[in-house]
Amino acid sequence: MKKPGNYSRILVTSALTYANGDTHLGHIAGSILPGDMFARYCRLAGYDIIYVCGSDEFGTAIEMSAIKEGISPKEIIDKYHFANKKAYEDLGMSFDIYSRTSSDIHSKTSQDFFLNLYDKGLLYQKTEKQLYSEKESRFLADRYVKGTCPVCGFEEAKGDECENCGSALSPLELINPKSTITGDTPVVKESTHFYFPLSKYQEKLEKWIDSKADWKPNVINYCKGWFKTGLKDRAITRDLDWGVPVPLEGYGGKVIYVWFEAPIGYISNTLELFDQKGEPEKWKDYWFREDTKLVHFLGKDNIIFHAIFFPAMLMAREGFVLADNVPANEFMNLEGSKQSKSKGHAILVKDVVKKFNPDSIRYAIASNMPENKDTDFYWEDLQAKNNNELGAILGNFVNRTFVFAEKYFDLKVPERGSLEQIDNVLIESLKSYSKRIANYYESYKFKDAVGETMNLVRDANKYFNDTQPWKAVKDNKERCSTIINICLQLCHTFAVLFNPVLPLTSEKLLEMLNEDKANFSWDKSYEMCLPDGQVLNKPEILFVKIEDSQIEN
Ligand code: MF3
Ligand code: ZN
Repeated sequence: MKKPGNYSRILVTSALTYANGDTHLGHIAGSILPGDMFARYCRLAGYDIIYVCGSDEFGTAIEMSAIKEGISPKEIIDKYHFANKKAYEDLGMSFDIYSRTSSDIHSKTSQDFFLNLYDKGLLYQKTEKQLYSEKESRFLADRYVKGTCPVCGFEEAKGDECENCGSALSPLELINPKSTITGDTPVVKESTHFYFPLSKYQEKLEKWIDSKADWKPNVINYCKGWFKTGLKDRAITRDLDWGVPVPLEGYGGKVIYVWFEAPIGYISNTLELFDQKGEPEKWKDYWFREDTKLVHFLGKDNIIFHAIFFPAMLMAREGFVLADNVPANEFMNLEGSKQSKSKGHAILVKDVVKKFNPDSIRYAIASNMPENKDTDFYWEDLQAKNNNELGAILGNFVNRTFVFAEKYFDLKVPERGSLEQIDNVLIESLKSYSKRIANYYESYKFKDAVGETMNLVRDANKYFNDTQPWKAVKDNKERCSTIINICLQLCHTFAVLFNPVLPLTSEKLLEMLNEDKANFSWDKSYEMCLPDGQVLNKPEILFVKIEDSQIEN
């Protein structure tokens, strides 16, 4: 196994998706696609890597949807867990595991975690005022209440966070709070909860983040903002039925706060993965050994939980690895405003994969990934990327190469004779392209990685034009044979280098080249792997043109 820098193995996570609705392109752009591209790159680079994701199935977000759809929370999560799992598969995601926080293994892992901190005397209890709805006879935790954000004045802030300014809130801080369900004004009632002493970890967290010179500025700035305000201790239990029960006698009706147990899902899913593999101890390598590189992919609204709260929990638990990086993305809006499944303003993965090539969707998103600022998804952009880049550049190159191979060389890899300067220049450039693109992946610059890969195909097309195989085939068949050999080798290069973003196309290319996976690695991407005479398979059209009528809706 090759080593990723000073580390020996990599653990990649994408934020667990709430199983309360269909996943949409906002999730794909924020946390899922960058995680998948990185994981795929790491596998090709030959690293020991696992990629963990799954459904986030507790919390008030789930209960609220259950109330809205008139079914039970359990029915909600069953419906959306499997729907989202399938949607991700259809879009070519390559999780090693996509499990659920409603699993027994997860409850046990989170309860053990909670008890570990409790036994060490790190948690404390406090009786606090809470919002209570008399109409519904329940405490209004988190998303059960809406109101005006005390920080920015946004009128639709949720009880646990303001989507507008990103502040983490508690329901009591909201100005003019209202029950989300009934709209009535809650009263204040007391309840006792366990608190995690986040404030105690501020110094340690600040030092830790100061050592992360390679983190994205947006992530560092978010964290610095919270440090400046001062971290507050957080209640980690709730008065709810739906959740992981507090594992102590006398706390019936209380569950562990979803943002405490959900990130533990990364751990329990790792456990489950290795249980399934029949290596039940192996998860420990990924979570306890310091030479594990832990990377969390997520959208900006989750930064506080992954860069501050979860690391503090892990520090408290002791012995666990902390994130090496938290390369959070900004949001990908939809034609000018934020995608939100609850507001019905979102492109659902399950719909879009029915209409378009999944690779085209991945490519359009990756080339416009909200790495440093919000971006917008436009249907015209998907069409343009598909038609003018994937089709006209990549598809065209592969197609013309295979047309020659079929027409003049019996659908076999023709012999590579002596090389001319133009050949050498291109072949030599492959290694530097491959290294450059690898560097982009290693530093989470996915847009650049994809752009540079397409630049290589532009060079390949130029090579095809400049060497004029259509002339050579008449005047100098041997020369033509060398040119087409090189072009086929390039198709193999593309199968490797495009795999992170275009996995289905990559598979098709390998199939057309009749290549098994022996040469399918980053290091082989710049080598001439195909032996003379290798029999090829019939070519397929890689990208079908997207017509105007398909994007008018
Ligand atoms: N479900 C959360 C969201 O969509 C993300 C949970 S990430 C985890 O915002 F770390 F808590 F799992
Ligand atoms: Zn706000």
